[in-house]
Amino acid sequence: MRIAVPRERAPRESRVALVPESVAKLIKSGSSVTVEHDAGLAAGFPDTQYTTAGATIAADFAATVSGADLVCQVQPPESHEVAAIPQGGAIVGYWQPGGAPEVLTALGARGVRMVALERVPRITRAQSMDVLSSQATVAGYKAVLLGASALPKMLPMLTTAAGTLAPAKVFVIGAGVAGLQAIATAKRLGAVVSGFDVRVAAQEQIQSLGATPLKIDLGGDAEGGGGYAKAQSDDQARLTQEGIAKHIAGVDLVITTAAIPGKRAPILITENAVRGMKTGSVIVDLAAETGGNCEFTKAGETVDVGGVQVIGPLGLASTAPFHASQMLSRNILTFITHVTKDNALNLDASDEITGAMLVKPEVTR
Ligand SMILES: NC(=O)c1ccc[n+]([C@@H]2O[C@H](COP(=O)([O-])OP(=O)(O)OC[C@H]3O[C@@H](n4cnc5c(N)ncnc54)[C@H](O)[C@@H]3O)[C@@H](O)[C@H]2O)c1
Repeated sequence: MRIAVPRERAPRESRVALVPESVAKLIKSGSSVTVEHDAGLAAGFPDTQYTTAGATIAADFAATVSGADLVCQVQPPESHEVAAIPQGGAIVGYWQPGGAPEVLTALGARGVRMVALERVPRITRAQSMDVLSSQATVAGYKAVLLGASALPKMLPMLTTAAGTLAPAKVFVIGAGVAGLQAIATAKRLGAVVSGFDVRVAAQEQIQSLGATPLKIDLGGDAEGGGGYAKAQSDDQARLTQEGIAKHIAGVDLVITTAAIPGKRAPILITENAVRGMKTGSVIVDLAAETGGNCEFTKAGETVDVGGVQVIGPLGLASTAPFHASQMLSRNILTFITHVTKDNALNLDASDEITGAMLVKPEVTR
């Protein structure tokens, strides 16, 4: 099987789809791999590491994908690049909801089969190919660092000759993969951490990381299928907003990650709640890409609300591109192994995992 790894061109994208370690494994199992010049450089993987792994380096996009059975690229290709991708070939990428629909349509029309990594089913068998989890891990970690840098305080309690400094209070909303990583990171930095999730099971996980769960009586569990949260009723949403507003009045840094699959992120931090926070407090809204958990969030911007900064970061996983690429690459390698039969690509739509990740023609219309 011939595998191609183009250089990413999208703004803010520093990751690479396959790192040299995975390339070496693919070559050992009988594939050939062509990597575009400098494809891994921004993530810390120079061309020399790819050649040592056995890859061929190509000068540009067209030369990289020429003759490829499978193109591995984090972001969708640019429109003008589609014609270079071999007809009947396949492309695997991290397509983000609603990302580049015209490119997907053009790829579909060309007969290129598309695999969207973010559609990985959240089942145990697919865990090692779960890009949502691997990239959320980086985002949760980075969100805390971002918030800590924006705070006018340090996070840990310090006893110094100049007196004792009280630790900062960090509150994490949404205890999924990103939220739990944010809790763990804030704890490591010495903050006093609390967390909240509408799923009852999450309370134990928050506690196991040494944080205090915020309890708001919502009259039942909000856990739906596959461990995901269900959307709340209007009453539950109001109670949640009120409980959060009360709690964050005494918090320095809020990291918010709450999401409902396929829906706009729920508004959990209202205008009044932000106005009730202390001057100098910071909110980092990881749900910015899907509308935000805070009424003031603007994706890709920092909004100052009377001395409270509301940060809506985009593409946080790409800001730690070495480890983000390493995990992404291992996810993709596991997927490639899953869809390889007799050293050829076998994208079987009836397979539970592959079928869920294949982009169907109606989605590209
Ligand atoms: N392969 C697997 O089996 C697998 C992999 C990853 C995650 N999961 C499970 O999927 C679930 C979701 O994980 P995720 O990280 O993808 O979540 P996510 O990114 O979809 O959402 C983040 C968190 O926000 C919470 N949330 C939603 N609405 C909220 C609200 N109004 N207030 C507070 N919190 C709210 C959710 O419960 C979730 O924990 C978890 O149970 C996790 O264990 C399973």
